[in-house]
Amino acid sequence: MTRSAVSAPGKAFLIGEYAVLAGATALVTAVGRRAVAADCDDPDRPPASPLTEAAYAHVRSFLSESTGTKAPGPLTSVDTGSFAAGARKLGLGSSAAAVAAIVGFHLAEAGLDPEDPEVRAIALRLAQAAHAQVQGGGSGADVACAVLGGTIAFTRGEVPTPIAHPAWLHVGFFDAGAPADTASFVQQVRVAGERDPAAYADATAQLRRAAELFRGGYLGDDPDIGLTALRDAVALHNDGLRALQRLSGAPIVTPNIAAIVDQAARMGLAAKPSGAGGGDLVVAFAARQADLDLLAERLQREHGLHAIGRLPVAVPGLRRDERPPLSSRMSGFFRLGVDGRRDAVAAATRIARDRFAALDPGSLDLGSADNLIENVIGTLELPLAVATNFRINGRDFLVPMAVEEASVVAAASNAAKMIRAGGGFFARSDPPWMIAQVQLTAPKSADAPADGAVAAIHAARADLLALADSAHPRLVARGGGARDLLVRVLAPDMLVVDVVVDCQDAMGANLLNTIAEILAPVLSDMTRWTAGLRILSNLADRRRAHVTCRVPPGALAGRGFSGAAAAAGIASASRFAELDPYRAATHNKGVMNGVDAVALATGNDWRAIEAGAHAYAGLTGAYRPLATWRLDPEGWLCGAISLPAAVGVVGGATKVHPSARLALEILGATSGAELGQVMAAVGLASNLAALRALATEGIQRGHMSLHARAVALGAGAAGPEVDLLVHRLVEAAEIKHDRAVVLLRELRSESR
Ligand code: MEV
Repeated sequence: MTRSAVSAPGKAFLIGEYAVLAGATALVTAVGRRAVAADCDDPDRPPASPLTEAAYAHVRSFLSESTGTKAPGPLTSVDTGSFAAGARKLGLGSSAAAVAAIVGFHLAEAGLDPEDPEVRAIALRLAQAAHAQVQGGGSGADVACAVLGGTIAFTRGEVPTPIAHPAWLHVGFFDAGAPADTASFVQQVRVAGERDPAAYADATAQLRRAAELFRGGYLGDDPDIGLTALRDAVALHNDGLRALQRLSGAPIVTPNIAAIVDQAARMGLAAKPSGAGGGDLVVAFAARQADLDLLAERLQREHGLHAIGRLPVAVPGLRRDERPPLSSRMSGFFRLGVDGRRDAVAAATRIARDRFAALDPGSLDLGSADNLIENVIGTLELPLAVATNFRINGRDFLVPMAVEEASVVAAASNAAKMIRAGGGFFARSDPPWMIAQVQLTAPKSADAPADGAVAAIHAARADLLALADSAHPRLVARGGGARDLLVRVLAPDMLVVDVVVDCQDAMGANLLNTIAEILAPVLSDMTRWTAGLRILSNLADRRRAHVTCRVPPGALAGRGFSGAAAAAGIASASRFAELDPYRAATHNKGVMNGVDAVALATGNDWRAIEAGAHAYAGLTGAYRPLATWRLDPEGWLCGAISLPAAVGVVGGATKVHPSARLALEILGATSGAELGQVMAAVGLASNLAALRALATEGIQRGHMSLHARAVALGAGAAGPEVDLLVHRLVEAAEIKHDRAVVLLRELRSESR
């Protein structure tokens, strides 16, 4: 029997690190990365650890002493994959979340509701005891946050107090690039404090004042007053950290952390390390999401530092999860028939089996098709398959792909398995910014030079952005809207105004076009230039998905080639594409085999994605490969792709097409950004599969039997005839329709 899943969130310190150890009150918020305890047959799931065993032992002894509760089943496993950043774990409290999830799971199994405040109080006590037993040292704030969720005011030895997260405050997270060694920093600071108690007392007093000042700002509802208090508090806190650093020698404020903190301060925002410092996580505060996005853009451009997606804060604590993490490693999946595969996908995703009828032929009925486009005379069916083995940012995905070309799905699944051997794909996204364009042309008669028009538009920038926002109040309410406005002189008599818009989880075409149309007459009036085209740009280079992977050479070995030889061949194939646009076009076709198939399956506009991808490939003036491969010093193969990803999970065909809707559900992508990351990962995997085949035995051999299958079906083979005919075609080394017709006739006459 499948037991239900229970998850617990990670945490981030908003303020009060170090000071909390000296008795001050810290503010800690629960963040949207969760540890999930659930039954899972994933062979990659880590085995029980001392921590999970301790958590289980505490629950078991609690339950054995309680009346009216059932005994727990065996220790379940816990998935903390979503805390990964590349090969390391982000400092978001994954071990505390894991303990909380294990405790919550086994309490739930014994019939207690992990969302009930009384049960949570029990869970907190048990999780804290287990965590202290195994980890020791810390304040326990992370465990409290994992159990209770939301934002809590935490003082050691006291019951944590929940406090409401202010609606005006946006919190951003940045990766300062190195793991923090919390325990050793805390220890170094403690030893230094014993050596120089006066200096330690000064520094902690400063950190305590910072925490109090911060709490005042956090509790208020005025954004201006609140942000000013947060800025002052954070500046005081960072000074206090520097004092601890001088005192202890622990490198708490690293150059990367300083770069983020300084850049935020220059933009009127506040940023500080979250946790012990020394790398890892930096938290930034702003009154608008747009300011955090701008900070992210600058940090990326000037320092190569990245934001950690958009992490929600003050999220719920322990809770039951409808859809536990699945394993995409479904060995033998391809051998199951269509029904068996549907059973397996339904079981893994917990989507009701009868809903798979939405994937039956004819599920898009003629009436609906007739409403979608004009002059309809029928529908066109394509095979819809599921690619296996994909693991992205520590989370497994079953990836729906719609494509007519044999071997694309098998190749992507195979390559994903090789990439999985190196930890899977690591992905991040730009903010969902797209461009709406208004073309302006010079008036024939009047004297209106381009500089005058440009100056007039710049002077009205704020009003124009506000006008753009007025077109989509709901988008603005969800945190999206106009972000920037640029004017480019394309020729003495032609300008273009690019309005950068945050589209949130929509692909954005409609909303961008409306913005362009609303701005056009106003731009025309203020410049006396004539408004021409008003339309989005499909070159979505502000909205890219970036995916990397690192493959151990052993995973690439096979078919008579060593892993090292295959890896070297793939790196050389990448160079070939980087040097030659003729090769780059075919290389990118292989990438788009995967990308388009996912776009099509999920009802996204694949022409827009194609246009964006190829325009991006040519953006430097030379047509370049979208995905590239290099060998690292250890001989591992490192792949990278950046792909404009103008895709959404709301609106468009994703809504109206029943198969696309179900495909999106199977995939389980929670945002447009995540869908874009999946597409880029599938593109990278498709490219790896193609290059590996090309750099070793060549593409034809592997393709032969798959191609023969398509030819056999085309010739009319059915049921057991298909395999027999494929075999004969391959043996005859002539995979052609006419030959298949003859061989099929022979086959049938033999069996009569
Ligand atoms: C075929 O659909 C795609 C390939 O041509 C891609 C490539 O050459 O890299 C195999």
